[in-house]
Amino acid sequence: MSTSLIILAAGKGTRMRSDLPKVLHKVAGFPLLAHAMTSGAAFEPERTVIVTGHGAELVDAAARAVDEAATCVVQEEQLGTGHAVLQARPALDGFRGDVIVLYGDTPFIRPETLQAMAEARKTHDVVVLGFQAADPAKYGRLVMDGEELQKIVEFKDASIRERAIDFCNSGVVSASAETLFALLDKVGNDNASGEYYLTDIVALAREAGLSATAVACDELETMGVNSRADLAVAEAAFQARARAEALESGVTLTAPETVFFAMDTHVGPDTEIEPNVVFGPGVTIENGAHIRAFSHLEGAHVSRGAVVGPYARLRPGAELAEDVRIGNFVEIKNAVIDEGAKVNHLTYIGDAHVGERSNIGAGTITCNYDGVFKHRTEIGKRVFVGSNTMLVAPVKLGDDAMTGSGTVVTKDVPEGALALGRADQVNKSGLARKMFEILKARKEKQAEGKS
Ligand code: UD1
Ligand code: CA
Repeated sequence: MSTSLIILAAGKGTRMRSDLPKVLHKVAGFPLLAHAMTSGAAFEPERTVIVTGHGAELVDAAARAVDEAATCVVQEEQLGTGHAVLQARPALDGFRGDVIVLYGDTPFIRPETLQAMAEARKTHDVVVLGFQAADPAKYGRLVMDGEELQKIVEFKDASIRERAIDFCNSGVVSASAETLFALLDKVGNDNASGEYYLTDIVALAREAGLSATAVACDELETMGVNSRADLAVAEAAFQARARAEALESGVTLTAPETVFFAMDTHVGPDTEIEPNVVFGPGVTIENGAHIRAFSHLEGAHVSRGAVVGPYARLRPGAELAEDVRIGNFVEIKNAVIDEGAKVNHLTYIGDAHVGERSNIGAGTITCNYDGVFKHRTEIGKRVFVGSNTMLVAPVKLGDDAMTGSGTVVTKDVPEGALALGRADQVNKSGLARKMFEILKARKEKQAEGKS
């Protein structure tokens, strides 16, 4: 059975107090919308339709960053969740399978939960995802009759008896496209909010002789983000789960509560991650690497046996081969560091390639930017770059080359050559001692003048 997703993301999210549409606020380095799309991706959806409204263009761009094939449809006026889903109809023209409706501001629905809904769809025409609410507050209430879902009543429209129900609507709904849109055609807005409620399709289904049921999930999964406080809670929930999963998969975290993962961080087993490490988007750590304390990694690939940090920064395009060493206060950007190479202290390597087993001395800088353009630095194999070398790109150092400390390299260095580019040193015999005597005498004189 093929599946398509409809993700509702038209709301403004007033309580965020933000110029940014709510679904673009980030958890674990990715917009809420990307989390919702990722949950739904478990179905390999045939089509993904995002219903946008506020900040439609920005939401559109974010959706495409996750899935180029996603279609965004604009809901000009937010007339309710039922009206929102109807906007997706033209984009699903000709689609014959199942539709799952998700909310763009609800990031944590697990693929397993959606799978359970798909299972329930085999025996029911409409399937709703519900949860036992610790505090049912304003959620829609699921009115059950045994296994059958009779209707969903919105809080505002509910009787006192219905309000006492604590089995609540998450908002996630599944039905065949045909059934969904046929039922939505019948939904009116004669209710306390004057909105077209998606939830009304349940009672309409029952009236039409169709069956409906609810699948239950953990309340945490259905958590929606409506405020900055919710966003912080969502971040904490994500991190708690990511840390537990990392530990479970064989990663050592010395202080799990201080390590922050992105939604797409991949860490292989037998990796050791010390305290206070932050992963931005796009990081892969292969088995058995060691990420030392206070390191920040983003868009980086770290191979087996590599050691990074403490206090290292890997920026997008950092590609570390096996057994590479990246030490304290080193920044690597858009650079490939080949097997066994060492960049141990106080260095910037950007737009560069460092060949295998080369050693980059403390304080080395690839001067990659001339104020307008970026340029590349090529360092061969087994090169020894002396401390405080400035590599003024574009520049190449051949295999087995060497640079003297403090050299400003502006010309290519042939293989096996030593580059020296610094002022020659002169020693003035006895002059230091003489200088000390003069200075001390001056200090004594000043002290006498004061007393
Ligand atoms: C909705 C459900 C309620 C459920 C709750 C769970 C309805 C009528 N009610 O209520 O049963 O318990 O979610 O959180 O469905 N949206 C649009 N266009 C619109 C209206 C909403 O895109 O015209 C989007 C919002 O951006 C949001 C989602 O749909 O992502 C839910 O809308 P919201 O207004 O928050 O619904 P609730 O009143 O919370
Ligand atoms: Ca809501």
